[in-house]
Amino acid sequence: MQSLLDVSGLAFAYDGAAAVRDVSLSVQPGEIVALLGANGAGKSTTVRMIAGVLTPQKGDIRFAGEVLTGSPSHVVVRRGITLVPEGRLVFPQMTVMENLQLGAHIKQRGEIAALVDKAFALFPRLAERRGQLAGSMSGGEQQMLAIARGLMAEPRLIILDEPSLGLMPIVVQEVFKLIEAVNKSGIGVLLVEQNLHQSLRIAHRGYVLEKGSVVLAGTGQELLADAYVQKAFLGR
Ligand SMILES: Nc1ncnc2c1ncn2[C@@H]1O[C@H](COP(=O)(O)OP(=O)(O)OP(=O)(O)O)[C@@H](O)[C@H]1O
Ligand SMILES: [Mg+2]
Repeated sequence: MQSLLDVSGLAFAYDGAAAVRDVSLSVQPGEIVALLGANGAGKSTTVRMIAGVLTPQKGDIRFAGEVLTGSPSHVVVRRGITLVPEGRLVFPQMTVMENLQLGAHIKQRGEIAALVDKAFALFPRLAERRGQLAGSMSGGEQQMLAIARGLMAEPRLIILDEPSLGLMPIVVQEVFKLIEAVNKSGIGVLLVEQNLHQSLRIAHRGYVLEKGSVVLAGTGQELLADAYVQKAFLGR
């Protein structure tokens, strides 16, 4: 089967300080793939390169078999990859509806209403709050809005950068259930997380990043059973 995303040998340094040294990973159609690692491991830098926010200094990115390396973010979005960045950057002074409409900026006007309906079907909580200012919603609701807004571009792959950050465990569970629902609707997911247990529960496979390099890869079960993971992440 043709990979959805294929990344090989990516590297990036900020002003000479290496942040990503050697990252190779893939996402197959239909998969949720977790990208795991501690603070500063290089997760966000990696996904910023994939999304075209940063240009890789080494390595290749292919999407559905075609070269994507070095394409700027507006091209990457049109090719079918959406990044929901760290820190759920919704527009606080705009309503839920306005935030969603902005997510559809690459779409024709006539398509937007149907896309909003689709988002509301997946996220009923947002439908109830369509007129509410995004900044007045709870953290979990803002995260749902950030994901729903990302879906408005109709990506084939959605990259979520630490969607559980700062959320209570019960809310994290709810957000992760929605991520599974998004995946079941046919969208590949690259899930950046520090929350190893929760993410490996829903991920088909995962990669562990340390100091900018992939040090481990495997299925959720394999990674959870790995002695290194247990020591480094789970304190055992
Ligand atoms: N804009 C920047 N300018 C300079 N250095 C940066 C910048 N962004 C990140 N870095 C550095 O690059 C390294 C990797 O950072 P990155 O944000 O990719 O890690 P991360 O795995 O996403 O961490 P976290 O889990 O804390 O979000 C870190 O040492 C960080 O300080
Ligand atoms: Mg990060």
